[in-house]
Amino acid sequence: MSGEPTIYITTPIYYVNDRPHIGHAYTTVLADVMARYHRLLGRPTWFLTGTDEHGQKVQRAAERAGVSPQAHCDAMVVHFRRLWERLGISHDDFIRTTEPRHQEVVRTILQRLHRQGDIYPGEYEGYYCVHEENFWTEKDLLDGCCPDCRRPVERIAERNWFFRLSRHQDWLRARVEADPACVHPPSRRNEVLGFLRRPLADLCISRPARRLSWGIPLPFDEDYVCYVWFDALINYISAVGATADEGRFGRWWPAAWHIIGKDILVPSHAVYWPCMLRAAGIEPPRALLAHGWWLVDDRKMSKSLGNVTDPLDLVERYGADAFRYFLLREMVLGQDASFTADLFHRRYTADLANALGNLASRTLSMVERYRAGRVPAPGDAGEADHDLSSRAEALAAEAPALVDGLAFNGLLARTWELLSTANGYVERNRPWDLARPGGDGSRLDTVLYHLVEVLRVVSVLAWPVMPTAMGSLRERLGEGPVPASLRGEAGWGRLGPGRAVRKGEALFPRVEV
Ligand code: MSP
Repeated sequence: MSGEPTIYITTPIYYVNDRPHIGHAYTTVLADVMARYHRLLGRPTWFLTGTDEHGQKVQRAAERAGVSPQAHCDAMVVHFRRLWERLGISHDDFIRTTEPRHQEVVRTILQRLHRQGDIYPGEYEGYYCVHEENFWTEKDLLDGCCPDCRRPVERIAERNWFFRLSRHQDWLRARVEADPACVHPPSRRNEVLGFLRRPLADLCISRPARRLSWGIPLPFDEDYVCYVWFDALINYISAVGATADEGRFGRWWPAAWHIIGKDILVPSHAVYWPCMLRAAGIEPPRALLAHGWWLVDDRKMSKSLGNVTDPLDLVERYGADAFRYFLLREMVLGQDASFTADLFHRRYTADLANALGNLASRTLSMVERYRAGRVPAPGDAGEADHDLSSRAEALAAEAPALVDGLAFNGLLARTWELLSTANGYVERNRPWDLARPGGDGSRLDTVLYHLVEVLRVVSVLAWPVMPTAMGSLRERLGEGPVPASLRGEAGWGRLGPGRAVRKGEALFPRVEV
């Protein structure tokens, strides 16, 4: 046993009514980076993603395409799987809500809640937004439209089944108040508390099957199917064995970090979900992490606004690692960020092609040229050398806290500060002068050693964000492509002199606009 905490990371399960865009890719890349850092910190980690396949949205998309809903899902899920593969996503499991393993757990939980009296029949009257799969009351509406997506809503009056959400309100408010870490960032926790100040209504959790057939039939009333959000949220526990394999379930739950966009925090993840779990006798998840939106000209990037960028286009031009780097570097977790192709190109050129790519290529080519491709033993370190190594050491020591504080962009910013210091160190120490006949060979050894060592430390720290490029850099440095441990390998001075290194092709080739 490592004694390290267990970590279970999830993404939202994405609707299969459309192809994934940068917004979806961001959530998944963020979760992947987080999972990779935790694994590097020696923590047992399980990473889940998947697709949300039931509900009106999917049924209507299938109707438009003229195929059965299942055929539509089977075709659409491929786009998600392919993109995640292309982006190097290291999920341990991919759940689809149409899978029997999920449907069985949903039915077991529905049955349990019904038996306990937590689900009761009633009359539903109100407004429904098909696009958001959400119910609204008259006063929620904005100009008669859905307050979230501004589309027209449908008026509905029908018998349905309700979940006694309201009885958990006091418990939930006390819990969110007592645990500042249960929602990140803190501003979003305030939003949850604000929502909980108003009385909660019970939640309508069924749809008549005659109107919507594409869902999980209620086990106690087959004339109805389960509301898509009630079904979808359960993926987080059905995938790790809830109600079916308690040993496995106990290993990962409740150590769950649900990574979601801020659009689906309240009420689904922050209110419905913990109350559903509590009613089922299951602990709430460890934390919700609600990130901001990718904006285009100050508007949320979304298919319905027609302003989406296909992640594959950028990946084709710049590579998957550059795409991952940009997303993580540019967005401060919790805040919105703007996406433009120009910004992407500038980051790529400045940070990847120049700061990192150039440093690697000039350092390794000097070791090849001046020291026959073997890392020299450093001579006595002077002030500038100490400055560089102590910055690298300080960053390596700080990295676990930055990861735990979810400051991934901060960790990258600090790493690029180190690279900038290293690039300045090259300019000031002018190894090409030291290599001239009559130059100070011992000084050259020290400078080259320090530069190679900075590259090695960076190859560990940035590996979770750019596993392919850093894996390739590590191989050039004579290391295995995958670091075994952050604490073990990011420390200074672990590279033994005499090691054979090679320059290889450009890590981040220039891209012309
Ligand atoms: N199926 C539900 C989630 C159920 S989870 C139990 C859903 N799916 S979705 O396909 O609409 O994906 C929503 C998620 O995609 C958001 O929560 C967010 O994580 C991500 N994004 C979609 N557009 C986005 C941006 N423009 N910017 C950042 N992320 C956004 O909701």
